[in-house]
Amino acid sequence: MRILVIGSGGREHALAWKIAQSPLVAQIYCAPGNPGMAGHAKCVDIASGDIDGLLKFAADRKIDLTVVGPEDPLAAGIVDRFAEAGLRAFGPSAAAARLESSKAFAKAHMARHGIPTAAYAEFANADDAIEYVKSQPLPIVIKADGLAAGKGVTVAQDIETAIRAIRESLDEGAFGDAGNRLIVEEFLDGEEASFFSLTDGHTIVSLASGQDHKRAFDGDTGPNTGGMGAYSPAPVVTPEVHRAIEEQIVRPCIEGMARDGHPYRGVLYTGVMVTASGPRVVEFNCRFGDPETQVVLPRMKSDLVPLLLACCDGTLDRHRVEWHGGACVTVVMASGGYPKAYAKGMEITGIDAAERVAGVQVFHAGTAMKGGRLVTNGGRVLNVTAMGSGVASAVESAYAAVSHIRFDGAFHRNDIAHRALGRRNGCP
Ligand code: AMP
Ligand code: GLY
Repeated sequence: MRILVIGSGGREHALAWKIAQSPLVAQIYCAPGNPGMAGHAKCVDIASGDIDGLLKFAADRKIDLTVVGPEDPLAAGIVDRFAEAGLRAFGPSAAAARLESSKAFAKAHMARHGIPTAAYAEFANADDAIEYVKSQPLPIVIKADGLAAGKGVTVAQDIETAIRAIRESLDEGAFGDAGNRLIVEEFLDGEEASFFSLTDGHTIVSLASGQDHKRAFDGDTGPNTGGMGAYSPAPVVTPEVHRAIEEQIVRPCIEGMARDGHPYRGVLYTGVMVTASGPRVVEFNCRFGDPETQVVLPRMKSDLVPLLLACCDGTLDRHRVEWHGGACVTVVMASGGYPKAYAKGMEITGIDAAERVAGVQVFHAGTAMKGGRLVTNGGRVLNVTAMGSGVASAVESAYAAVSHIRFDGAFHRNDIAHRALGRRNGCP
């Protein structure tokens, strides 16, 4: 079987790494891929947004399954285009991907199907939105409706910040068309977790929970980032919370999508806030999480490929997923300055030594080959990932591996999985 993985980050490296372990697979291609993915696959120079180019490649090479990593091509309808051409692609249609690409759509869907989430109101006019926030308690959350590369959300502690966020989005076009409408949302207090479910539109198979660390620096301080580390499972997702997420959130969401005429196939990423009154949805994403995928897939004992095929073919009821025991942790090594401006092209050394630490796998997120050397090529450079019998041993192995890797300006958080370790030690 020939498989094409679309994307070039740590999530896609983890997908290609896991897919490469399947006995069903003869050849993997990645578009555009990265030097880490090149260890499992042939990288082809087609951008993840070039749907025409990807379609032509998949047809010419008779690709049996295309796995779409990032949200943008899904929102742009890549799965619909592939389906029209008789090609199988894992992920939702553009109509179903609106669960991520339009927060207004997602909120209306949750309201219609009784899914627990923050109370909200939707606005296209800044004065109306400002009048509304003045009547609401603080903190309050302002969200651009469309895809804004993770930058469209402001959790405002004071009214001035809320007003600024509203004006930037609706009056100043800070997010382009994605910010022409916005959601003003009640602040949810609790601990966040990510929860992944596979679905063929009807059957739902829960994968695992995870937790990422969005702030740049230790102690959850500093600016927001794409994620500085993650671990799985997330202890906040107890068996009871797990059941509540499945029954109160994921099932009504997927059944509602089918009933409303746009069945959802692929992986559903539910970002939940575990509050005192149970789990409530913070966001839906229509793709695997990054960097959570890097800690969920190493824990999966089952072959991923039959599961992905079954999601496309409507046969997921014939499958279940088996897991390894223990826990998995990933530490992101980033370029100095990230998430603001940073340099590229710094030589990276020590990955081989890092991978000799038991249970360690290094996923590439922002790397390139230059003159035969591996160099940095992004803000988040590497995801140093370790399996362990528990969170503590996985953390220890991941940091032992990090200590072998060098590049100029490298930084990482030293407290990945602190919440899980705190719980283990009996702290709140
Ligand atoms: P989103 O892009 O919707 O995931 O939002 C980014 C981050 O903002 C989330 O991961 C949360 O940490 C925070 N956030 C979003 N919505 C809320 C909310 N209603 N209450 C509290 N925090 C929120
Ligand atoms: N880890 C956050 C995301 O993938 O959206």
